Amino acid sequence: GSGTAPADVSASFVVVANRLPVDRVQHPDGTVDWRTSPGGLVTALEPVMRKNEGAWVGWHGAPDEVLDPFEEDGITIVPVPLSSQEVAEYYEGFSNATLWPLYHDVVAPPEFHREWWDAYVRVNRRFAERAAAVSDEGATVWVQDYQLQLVPQMLRTMRPDLRIGFFLHIPFPPVELFQQLPWRREITEGLLGSDLIGFQLPGAVQNFTRLVRQRVSAEVRRDLVTLPDGHVARAKAYPISIDSRGFRELARSAPVRERAREIRRDLGDPEVMFLGVDRLDYTKGIKQRLRAYGELVAEGRLDPDKVVFVQVATPSRERVDQYRHLRDEIDMLVGRINGEVGRIGRPPVVYLHSSFPREEMAALYSTADVMVVTPLRDGMNLVAKEYVACHEGDEGALVLSEFAGAAYELKQAYKINPYDINDIKATLELACRDAPTNKARRLRALRKQVFDNDITRWADTFLSDLDQKVTG
Ligand code: ADP
Ligand code: F6P
Repeated sequence: GSGTAPADVSASFVVVANRLPVDRVQHPDGTVDWRTSPGGLVTALEPVMRKNEGAWVGWHGAPDEVLDPFEEDGITIVPVPLSSQEVAEYYEGFSNATLWPLYHDVVAPPEFHREWWDAYVRVNRRFAERAAAVSDEGATVWVQDYQLQLVPQMLRTMRPDLRIGFFLHIPFPPVELFQQLPWRREITEGLLGSDLIGFQLPGAVQNFTRLVRQRVSAEVRRDLVTLPDGHVARAKAYPISIDSRGFRELARSAPVRERAREIRRDLGDPEVMFLGVDRLDYTKGIKQRLRAYGELVAEGRLDPDKVVFVQVATPSRERVDQYRHLRDEIDMLVGRINGEVGRIGRPPVVYLHSSFPREEMAALYSTADVMVVTPLRDGMNLVAKEYVACHEGDEGALVLSEFAGAAYELKQAYKINPYDINDIKATLELACRDAPTNKARRLRALRKQVFDNDITRWADTFLSDLDQKVTG
């Protein structure tokens, strides 16, 4: 629920993101609910905001509504309104049908439309104005993700006194792909308005600095970019993480343990439970993983009486064509696998198209034997880390795409190339049948990684780097 409206918001720490941590949902009967927003950005930043008192500027997920600021669990929420047309052009259009596929290896063809760009500029300016209005003198403002890449430069022009950080949660593409973008110069300059630009991986930093060398009149020395006006922007990698201890505590709680046992029973006590958890997105490789699993069952390499694959997919960006097609394709694929190799009371795939509370996710993670994470491209993938944090004991396995940012740190996962169905098949089998000592050794190494590098460490490192004034 939303509390009372603070009269005048003013903060020394301000996060600006397209999404607020909560979404406003209006039911057909007119009642209103607030729900946790989908995706990794909110999972990661929520604990950071709870620790550092501050304001969160963002959109509340519904069109055509102007809302006052309010307090939610100790966070000051500053809603930014979007009209229906802006949702269509800025959010569904330029953010999610132009930038999203372009930045993810063009796994779907990006669309370029001038009206979408115009809306992107307009909405970025609104976010920048809102952030400028709530920031104290000399405040730190941390802008998030690909929807708001023009905000740093706009904000610097409005408020030169601010420390401006930017973090990109998704991959930054190679120059060869980025340069398709008709507005490549504006986006690059928008980002360079920051004092510190954070990327998930060193490879993304390289892509960005290579782009700047080729396209902008600036001096680039290693990770420092000096602009003609003397402003210095630094680019550096900060692999994002989760509240590892928070997830583990949740998984250890009595109700979640009980729920885990219940899930297992309801599934018919399978010998092996595979699990996939994603936003329903074409970058996640859901088709590839289900196809691989379906073939293993059809070929008798996995016994349909003993195994089950639980795939949980949160509805996402449902009015964008590519997402609509994907949903139909997955429906068909699941239907085909269950129709062809299923038995009464034992469907080989249990598919849930919906979002669940964090407790339910923790229960699923803690009981799943093989976690299957197969994106064709992913900035990080927090689901992989959540599994590692929640899954205790020596049995368990993480199958992980080498194209997920998480693969850079989670080196002991069972790695796969998601474009190679035979590789996925062989690795799913290995993950089931590997010697217990191998599994235990891998899990221990993964756990060490995820607990040594949690979200607090990520935020502290970024913010202390942002604090240091660098000169070119
Ligand atoms: P992305 O940011 O692209 O969605 P991530 O894997 O980084 O991908 O983050 C996804 C987040 O959404 C995780 O915190 C995960 O727990 C959550 N999530 C994914 N699917 C569901 C679901 N069906 N119900 C609830 N939470 C989900
Ligand atoms: O970084 C991943 C991300 O794109 C976030 O920016 C976003 O909030 C999340 O996934 C979920 O997507 P959406 O906000 O479009 O529902």
